[in-house]
Amino acid sequence: MATPSPSTPDRAASFGLVAEDYGRLRPAPPDEAIDWMLPEHPSDVLDLAAGAGTLTALLPSRVRQVHAVEPDDRMRAVLAGRLPGADVRAGTAESIPLPDACVDGVIVASAWHWFDTGRAVPEIARVLRPGGRLGIVWNGIDRSVDWVDRWSSGLGDHGGQPAPEGRVARRGELLRAALEAPDSPFGGLEHAVFTTTRRSTPAQTTALLGTYSRVILLPEAEREAHLARALDALCAELGIGPDDAFALPFRALAWRTTRR
Ligand SMILES: C[S@@+](CC[C@H](N)C(=O)[O-])C[C@H]1O[C@@H](n2cnc3c(N)ncnc32)[C@H](O)[C@@H]1O
Repeated sequence: MATPSPSTPDRAASFGLVAEDYGRLRPAPPDEAIDWMLPEHPSDVLDLAAGAGTLTALLPSRVRQVHAVEPDDRMRAVLAGRLPGADVRAGTAESIPLPDACVDGVIVASAWHWFDTGRAVPEIARVLRPGGRLGIVWNGIDRSVDWVDRWSSGLGDHGGQPAPEGRVARRGELLRAALEAPDSPFGGLEHAVFTTTRRSTPAQTTALLGTYSRVILLPEAEREAHLARALDALCAELGIGPDDAFALPFRALAWRTTRR
């Protein structure tokens, strides 16, 4: 992987440094979460901050036309390679390169926290048709499971964030503030949680950790030491070797709301 240079702008722009790994390693939210966020009979759907196309790849079987907007050139290149039929554009949530009222669904996966919501919310409302659906999801390793929390807390891996349940509550509060104001173009915010497990190995799980921004931006020696510590701790926690399979728990925290 390329070592982040001192000019690396910030965490939101860090993912391109690991674009190939990101596309290969990050799992999409479960099918039920995607179906819950999409409108009924979706026609045109925008995956906003689509990254390397992890979730986008699950849309062509569900919608007539997939649109994907992503600011990072390297992430977008991986996405476009995976999805030749998608309408893939450079852009941001604050400036979406699509016409007014052109989609009936917008999905944002693991990216809402990078947006300037004061500008992104009206912009998302602009491209959505009246009655269209905005779905927001964070999908990640499920730290509400005791052993996962023990393992990641032992690594100091909460990154100064509140404990998992505190973080869920905080995300809900931020979304309500951004989307439920009296003059909001959106209404009827709903929340659902989807849990699943995926077959993984400690080595694969540790590689996945390397696609998170706080790990990407560590200096190379620190990053390697952190990932080696994570691997040892995971093997010890589970009592298995680096290449032995186990069921890794994931949790998708999803919200949906409707364009008035
Ligand atoms: C954690 S990745 C999630 C990618 C993808 N949605 C997924 O689920 O795999 C966050 C993505 O948000 C993009 N991003 C960061 N700031 C953004 C902004 N203001 N508008 C749109 N995308 C942004 C990054 O380039 C990155 O690809």
